[in-house]
Amino acid sequence: MKIIIKLSKFLIILYFNGCEYIMLSIIVAIGNNNVIGLYNKMPWYIPDDLKYFKEKTLGKTVIMGRKTLESIGGPLKDRKNIVISRNKSYSSESFEVLHDFSEVKKYIDDDNENFIIGGAEIYREFLHFCEFLYVTRVYKDFKGDKFFDHIDENEWRIVNASGVKDYMDLKYEFFVYERYS
Ligand SMILES: NC(=O)c1ccc[n+]([C@@H]2O[C@H](COP(=O)([O-])OP(=O)(O)OC[C@H]3O[C@@H](n4cnc5c(N)ncnc54)[C@H](OP(=O)(O)O)[C@@H]3O)[C@@H](O)[C@H]2O)c1
Repeated sequence: MKIIIKLSKFLIILYFNGCEYIMLSIIVAIGNNNVIGLYNKMPWYIPDDLKYFKEKTLGKTVIMGRKTLESIGGPLKDRKNIVISRNKSYSSESFEVLHDFSEVKKYIDDDNENFIIGGAEIYREFLHFCEFLYVTRVYKDFKGDKFFDHIDENEWRIVNASGVKDYMDLKYEFFVYERYS
């Protein structure tokens, strides 16, 4: 069973990487213990993090799961929105809906950075195909029901760190990781 899973991952990586280079990145905010969400919401509110998210993604393609779209209340302005759902009858005129994540390659922008913006299920499925992770570390314990996978130091190296910042009782820091294996 493990061999079949590994083989299918390998085939998907080949399919994604193919001959063309795709600039796929994850952007995520992560609390202690890898918490990223609770009851389909973000567990914290940090205006500077929302500003950072906007700066990075504006004018780009953003790819999200159907639950994240519902959590943010609709498509993001001034970005090309791609929403993934297994529900074949789910569609919209204001954003692209894909029913299989391998279709994403056809819709993303080859000349620009494309962002996976969540949530937990979508991050997990795309982590293997991303070159960069834009991670906001929020240094606090939060109750959560959605988690980001462990970022393996053998796979990812930090290429930028902002230093610790404060908002109210929260301490947070922006990191950029680059894949090196
Ligand atoms: N901290 C952060 O930076 C951050 C960012 C984004 C989201 N979040 C949080 O993450 C949570 C939501 O994450 P989640 O894991 O529950 O949901 P999600 O990843 O946003 O969406 C999951 C949905 O995506 C669709 N999907 C997933 N894999 C698919 C595939 N291979 N093919 C087709 N469709 C697929 C399915 O939609 P259907 O059910 O319609 O089939 C599935 O139910 C919320 O709490 C949100 O606030 C946190």
